[in-house]
Amino acid sequence: MTQAADYRGYNHHTAADPDLELASTKQGTPCGELFRRFWQPVAMSSRVTSTPCALDILGMKLVAFRTQAGEVGLMHRQCAHRGASLEFGRVESRGIRCSYHGWLYDCRGRLLEAPLEGANSPLCRTVDQGAFPVVEKGGLVFAFFGAAEDRPSFPDLESLAIPGDELLPYALHYPCNWLQVHENLMDPLHAIYLHSKIGETHFTKAWGEIPAIEYVERSGRIYYLAARQIGSNVWVRLNEVAAPNFGLIAGLWETGKDECYFDRVSISRWTVPIDDENCWIIGFRHFHPDVEKPGQGLGRRELIGYDSADSYGQTGHRPYEEMQANPGDWEAQVSQGRIAVHALEHRCTSDRGVVLLRNNLKKFLRRAPGAEVNILRSPSPINTWTSNTVIRLPDSGTARISGESLVNIMRRVAEIIQSHDEESGVQRTESVRDELRTEVWERYVR
Ligand code: FES
Ligand SMILES: [Fe+2]
Repeated sequence: MTQAADYRGYNHHTAADPDLELASTKQGTPCGELFRRFWQPVAMSSRVTSTPCALDILGMKLVAFRTQAGEVGLMHRQCAHRGASLEFGRVESRGIRCSYHGWLYDCRGRLLEAPLEGANSPLCRTVDQGAFPVVEKGGLVFAFFGAAEDRPSFPDLESLAIPGDELLPYALHYPCNWLQVHENLMDPLHAIYLHSKIGETHFTKAWGEIPAIEYVERSGRIYYLAARQIGSNVWVRLNEVAAPNFGLIAGLWETGKDECYFDRVSISRWTVPIDDENCWIIGFRHFHPDVEKPGQGLGRRELIGYDSADSYGQTGHRPYEEMQANPGDWEAQVSQGRIAVHALEHRCTSDRGVVLLRNNLKKFLRRAPGAEVNILRSPSPINTWTSNTVIRLPDSGTARISGESLVNIMRRVAEIIQSHDEESGVQRTESVRDELRTEVWERYVR
């Protein structure tokens, strides 16, 4: 029997416009101006050398280089004289010289020489090349693209300075809009299909369990809580994002089999628009013995770097047949289109985190600059919450506990973590761990 939904391909119009308020980051657009209020990673330090490096970021054509003295310059690529690209220039001790007529710019963008004009040319007082301030952290070059007077200090995130942690820089290219890549961080339920059931198991078996899940907005940030019962344990995972484009990912290889308390971060990452239809994930892969547990040996340092990652499916460098047989994050997100069209989606309960993220971003777009709370512009050190905790259920054996109990447990884990926000460093970590370790978890099991 024919039903109303049968063979309606013709009726599905697929022409709808993308939500450019969120998607576009060109200068002068709402989101473009938001991005220009925060430090953004733009390249791995190892790529910025005495050979000029062409970079496209936020719809701008830029060039980066490093002088012999080690100073990094980042500026518009088209020479202020008549527009030849500085990627063909020569890096000298004082800056970069355009190959066409020899104009020399320092790393701040000042014109030092216009050699065909003679020594007293007024050009050096009236022309500049438009440079951006940079800082280098842990093997990444970060830049600030906003107005000079709006530049904040570099965010002092506690999770970038955990004692014993090793940070490896990496950058992954995604030929699609930045938002569909970034919002995946608040789409944890995709792990059950994409990473567990569809092809191979990309992480651990535990990821295939359907968790109790909650998405929370707090202090300008969004985080999700996911709790899974693994045998007689409960694995609670907390991952967080901060607008516009920063995210933290807890340990990737958790099995849920061994107790652990407040084990921290596997990945710190920014999704950086190249233009509206391409982006980079640029960030750090963390190697801390609490997270990359000795003996598990799943993290692979040698695979981390330029367009290369150590977890499956994060780049487009696999044969098409393999992509079809065992798709990963790259295929899922890139195949949504160059700019995913929100008007064509059928969002549902599993999209609550994505919707919360988009709405949070809109709040930032509509708030007056300076009125927002955002950890990435905080002048003081910031504790982050991202972590895995595995508790042992007292006397439960392997009987399944209720979804409500999982929710109670994960909420209590978050509450304990956040109750120590006023403390710092190792002392805070120890306080959180002590409290998690000594909590009477029976109270939360119904
Ligand atoms: S175009 Fe660069 S110096 Fe003439
Ligand atoms: Fe994923």
